[in-house]
Amino acid sequence: MITPATTTEAIQLSGQGTPRLLRCRALQSPLAGVSDRIFRGLVRRWAPDALLFTEMVNATSLELGHGLQKVEELALEQGPIGVQLFDHRPQSMADAARRAEAAGAFLIDINMGCPVKKIAKKGGGSGLIREPDLASRIVETVSAAVSIPVTVKTRLGWCGSDLDPVAWCRQLESAGAQLLTLHGRTREQGFKGSADWQAIAAVKRALAIPVIANGDINSAADALRCLEQTGADGVMVGRGSMGAPWLVGQIDAALSGRPIPEAPSALERVLLAKEQLQALVAAKGDHGLLIARKHMGWTCNGFTGAPQLRHALMRAPTPAEAIALLDQTAAALAS
Ligand SMILES: Cc1cc2nc3c(=O)[nH]c(=O)nc-3n(C[C@H](O)[C@H](O)[C@H](O)COP(=O)(O)O)c2cc1C
Repeated sequence: MITPATTTEAIQLSGQGTPRLLRCRALQSPLAGVSDRIFRGLVRRWAPDALLFTEMVNATSLELGHGLQKVEELALEQGPIGVQLFDHRPQSMADAARRAEAAGAFLIDINMGCPVKKIAKKGGGSGLIREPDLASRIVETVSAAVSIPVTVKTRLGWCGSDLDPVAWCRQLESAGAQLLTLHGRTREQGFKGSADWQAIAAVKRALAIPVIANGDINSAADALRCLEQTGADGVMVGRGSMGAPWLVGQIDAALSGRPIPEAPSALERVLLAKEQLQALVAAKGDHGLLIARKHMGWTCNGFTGAPQLRHALMRAPTPAEAIALLDQTAAALAS
């Protein structure tokens, strides 16, 4: 059983020169198209000490000056934020890591799990599982380029018939990874099927560096069960936080032996959706509405009239019309 005494101890990462402490054993995963600055700000409200991640950032693009905003906006944020990079070129990764460090990254995470074909085919993301020597070189080169810790997020393997997660993860540890997040699925599985927590347990037993378990953690009870089954040092929440930015904070409370904060009421969720929409529109203009649609679809859920509200929100042509819909719903829920 996980006791509060063991779970409140900080996780130590050494890095080349700048050691880091993780005070919270619940982490928010990088989520492309989701975990932007505004989403992270909401997660942070419930989880002040949790390690959060940027969406994955293409290192070559960053080198060319594209996507700089994703890194530079870290300066506006509180608390530990890891920058996640992906690419197959060690030098590009090292250059991007230097930029991220200068922008205030808490650590650099290397994506070795993304299943997207276009990325994996070039040898980035999960493609590195099939290029273990290159994967090691990337970890070594990035580690030599920055003084903050370098971590890796990966999967169990490429496919069910090509699977040796312990050997794969040991290799990443030998290359210098300071922490490993293991998503308990193969590349072939994508996001389907159940995450294999037993395989994560085997990796945890084999490694000396901290191991974070990822996959199917959608509640505080899941997190406790996962830590019990895997012996992992922490858990990373993925899809469960989409539309539920309070989940990491709830898990943190459960792991620390504090009372678990209630999920927001229907009214509070509608107001949260409005706040996120307004922040996205302020940051990105009308394009913010397109990004906000998916968040509103996830958050406006589980109350009478929610399906009709979502249907109308998806069709609202302007931010003002979407805000009016949310205001009407909030007034009805408050009465
Ligand atoms: C929409 C979406 C975007 C994602 N983007 C990233 C990403 O940028 N980097 C990454 O390492 N994993 C990414 N993932 C994978 C998640 O971080 C996580 O590993 C995966 O969803 C498994 O956890 P879960 O079962 O709790 O969802 C993404 C997943 C989804 C659904």
